Amino acid sequence: MSDLFAPAGPGGRTLLGRQAQVLLGFALPRADCLLAGIAQVIARAPLRQLTTPGGHVMQVAMTNCGLLGWTSDRRGYRYADRDPGSGRPWPAFPEGFLTLATDAAAEAGFPGYRPDACLINRYAPGTRLSLHVDRDEDDPVAPIVSVSLGLPATFLWGGLARSDRTVRVPLAHGDVVVWGGADRMRFHGVLPVPPGTHPQAGAFRYNLTFRKVR
Ligand code: SIN
Ligand code: FE2
Repeated sequence: MSDLFAPAGPGGRTLLGRQAQVLLGFALPRADCLLAGIAQVIARAPLRQLTTPGGHVMQVAMTNCGLLGWTSDRRGYRYADRDPGSGRPWPAFPEGFLTLATDAAAEAGFPGYRPDACLINRYAPGTRLSLHVDRDEDDPVAPIVSVSLGLPATFLWGGLARSDRTVRVPLAHGDVVVWGGADRMRFHGVLPVPPGTHPQAGAFRYNLTFRKVR
């Protein structure tokens, strides 16, 4: 049976590794601004359920902002400087995105973070993200900064091998997970999002995943 990490409360942090931690409620004061930014991005680069190289349609709906965006189709996973749906460049980071990412990274011990990509994931209730490693980036140590908004979810946090045991980490609106350095290549995923309605986000969980790709 997996451990359940007991959150320390807003302003606290949960340590997940030497260079991995949850900053509890870190994005809460900026959540409305971030949700407004997500709406702006989605209006220009609509959310889409991508197809994996194996032909499976992903449950999570995705889009991107920043210089590069993560995408997937039958040809493979990759970063692209244009939205394959429209052929246009991805929208720039909306107001507040970059400072949130750099502030959270610095708070977690990674000063000078310069992400060039932000994947936006939208989870409807029942949607999950299977265990994986973020390995399509050139930089193998710069942190991932992952912001949870809307409905709560359970994050699965594993080790460097897929078969390593996982722990279950509750993530709420405004929590930020940062992992880099020695912990950068650890497996992670999201359990099916329970049904619910969030006052600011409706019946969805949103996740912003900042990465330094190049
Ligand atoms: C991801 O691994 O890309 C997303 C994680 C999350 O939604 O919390
Ligand atoms: Fe990931």
